Amino acid sequence: MSLFVVWCLMSVGNDNALWDESRLADPHAQPDKAHRVQGMFDAIAPTYELINRLFSGGRDGAWRRAAVKLAKVTGDDDVLDVACGTGDFARAFRDGRITPRRVVGSDFAAQMLIRAAERDQTSMRWVQSDAQKLPYRDGSFSIVSCAFGVRNFQDLDSGLGEMQRVLRDGGRAIILEFSRPPNAIMRAIYEFYSSKVMPIGATLVSGDKTGAYRYLPKSVVSFPDVASFVERLRGVGFSRVETRSLTMGVVTIYAAYK
Ligand SMILES: C[S@@+](CC[C@H](N)C(=O)[O-])C[C@H]1O[C@@H](n2cnc3c(N)ncnc32)[C@H](O)[C@@H]1O
Repeated sequence: MSLFVVWCLMSVGNDNALWDESRLADPHAQPDKAHRVQGMFDAIAPTYELINRLFSGGRDGAWRRAAVKLAKVTGDDDVLDVACGTGDFARAFRDGRITPRRVVGSDFAAQMLIRAAERDQTSMRWVQSDAQKLPYRDGSFSIVSCAFGVRNFQDLDSGLGEMQRVLRDGGRAIILEFSRPPNAIMRAIYEFYSSKVMPIGATLVSGDKTGAYRYLPKSVVSFPDVASFVERLRGVGFSRVETRSLTMGVVTIYAAYK
């Protein structure tokens, strides 16, 4: 039996899928997107990191390290990693060339956070909270980071606004997110891989039944492009935004200053 047939059998007729074809037509417009995102990440948490390593060809760690480098961390920095998942980005901050004073990871998916806490409960703090309503006073952190999280927010502007609110003046938001390669050939190759190859492979390896790996490519192509996202960051009050494109534009780092 071909992999494609196996994938069809796993996806079609699965009434429990959080992301079915009708919802995937416009994933960001779903009124209960947050609920579906949370359920999806709770379900895929056990194999989340393995899938990232396998299907990014081991690049995801380098992407996070490049973002940490752009943050120009000092020993006086207090870092809040929003939508921290299993903690890969927060750990990259802790393990960078200079260790910040404090690293806190926050996420609303308990199963992701449990895995983060299993790794480290001493040098970092893990907090279950919604990025749309962060439980911190204005100006509490000097760096607010988010890797592959903002695309999943129910309301992008209010999530970015919360990141800006909890930053102190002079602080920076460091955001890592998938983007669409500007080169047409590269874009076609990458989008064939991410919409056809990756969903089958990742669904098979993870045993996912939520539709998570079909949501991923759809949520990327329907997310604001780099220029529009920079405007959204300015729109919530960031004064200056730098971008750096990685892996021929598959991923972009945004450094937004308050
Ligand atoms: C693709 S994972 C990224 C995890 C981690 N940042 C990393 O680099 O691997 C996205 C994470 O965003 C979290 N998330 C999405 N929307 C959220 C929200 N509104 N509040 C808190 N966490 C959220 C999900 O639960 C999930 O753990």
